[in-house]
Amino acid sequence: MGRPMALNLARAGVPLVVWNRTPARCEPLRAAGASVAADPAEVFDRCRTVLLMLADGAAIDAVLGRGTPGFAARVAGRVIVHMGTTSPEYSRELAADIRAAGGGYAEAPVSGSRVPAEQGRLVAMLAGDEGAVAAVRPLLAPMCHEVFVCGAVPEALLTKLAVNIFLITTVTGLVEAFHFAERHGLDLDRFLAVVDAGPMASGVSRMKAPKLKDHDFAVQAGVWDVLKNNELIASAARRAAVASPLLDVCHALFAQTARLGHGGEDMVAVLRAVEARTRAEGEARGEPRDEPRDPAPTGARGEEPAESRAATGTVAS
Ligand SMILES: NC(=O)c1ccc[n+]([C@@H]2O[C@H](COP(=O)([O-])OP(=O)(O)OC[C@H]3O[C@@H](n4cnc5c(N)ncnc54)[C@H](OP(=O)(O)O)[C@@H]3O)[C@@H](O)[C@H]2O)c1
Repeated sequence: MGRPMALNLARAGVPLVVWNRTPARCEPLRAAGASVAADPAEVFDRCRTVLLMLADGAAIDAVLGRGTPGFAARVAGRVIVHMGTTSPEYSRELAADIRAAGGGYAEAPVSGSRVPAEQGRLVAMLAGDEGAVAAVRPLLAPMCHEVFVCGAVPEALLTKLAVNIFLITTVTGLVEAFHFAERHGLDLDRFLAVVDAGPMASGVSRMKAPKLKDHDFAVQAGVWDVLKNNELIASAARRAAVASPLLDVCHALFAQTARLGHGGEDMVAVLRAVEARTRAEGEARGEPRDEPRDPAPTGARGEEPAESRAATGTVAS
C-alpha cells in the first residue's frame, strides 16, 4: 500500500522523503522524484509530518524507537500519522505517548486495497488532535477520493473496523453464492451478470467476481491481512460485549483458508475453505472425495509473492 500511496504524493508535487526497511523498494519512488532516506532517523530529522504505512504495531514501534531514549527526540515537534490498521487500543496508547513527548498525532486508516491505492481512490478516516488533523488533511488528498474526519482517536480505527465487517462478510457472501452456483452447474457468466445487474452489485462485487470466475487469487487484499483484521474486530467486539455473529463465521473460514496454505492469496481464496466444507459434507454422506480445481496452495505465512508486498513502509513530507 505504501508504494502506490507515496507515488501519488510524489506525482502531486508533495516534497517527499521516504524510507522502507527493504531499500530496493524505494527505487520507484526515487525515480518519481522522492528523496530516499538512509534510515528512519533521517526521515524524522528532515520532516515535520511523518506518514507511517506499516504492517502492525511492532513495526511502528521499531520505526519510532518507542520504548527507547530516542523516541521523544523523534516525535517531539512533529505530526505522526498512523495510516495502517492496528487495534484501537494500540493507537490510543501511541497517541498518549506521542503527546507526552511533545508531538502531534493523528490516525488515518484507509479503506480500499492495492488498486484503489494506485488510483488515488482510497477512503481515509481521520482522527486526532485538531492541529494534527488540519495539517494532515491536505496531504491525504492525492491518495484518497474522500476523507472523513471522525473525531478523537481511536474513532477512525473503530470506523475502519466497522467498515471491514461489511467488507469481509460481503466478499465471503459473494464467494459462497459463487460456490453454490458452481456446484449446481449454473452458467457462471450468467450468474455473475445477474449479480452485476441487480441491487447487490458494488465496486467490491465488480472487482472480486472476475477473480472468482478465473480462479485468479493474485493478491489485492490478502488472506493474512483479512485474518488480522478479523482478529482486531473480534477482539474489539468482545471487549465491548458486542455480538458479531457473521464476522465470527468469516473469521473461522479465513483461519481455515490460511491453514489450508492459502494465506498469501487474495481474500477470494476463502473459496478454498468453503470447498473444504463441501468436501466434508460429502464425506460425511459417504460420497467420493471431490478434489479442488487447482489444488496447489501458495503463500504459507512468510512466503507471500514479492509482487504482493507494498514497497514503502514510511513516507513523509
Ligand atoms: N493491503 C490492503 O489491502 C490494505 C488495505 C487497507 C489497510 N491495510 C493496512 O495497511 C498496513 C500496510 O498494509 P500493506 O498491505 O501495505 O502491508 P505489507 O505489504 O505487508 O507492507 C508492510 C510494510 O511494513 C514494513 N515493515 C514490516 N515490519 C517492519 C519492521 N519491523 N520495521 C520496519 N518496517 C516494517 C514492510 O517493510 P518491508 O517492505 O521491508 O517488508 C512494508 O513496507 C497494514 O496495517 C494493513 O492492515 C492494508
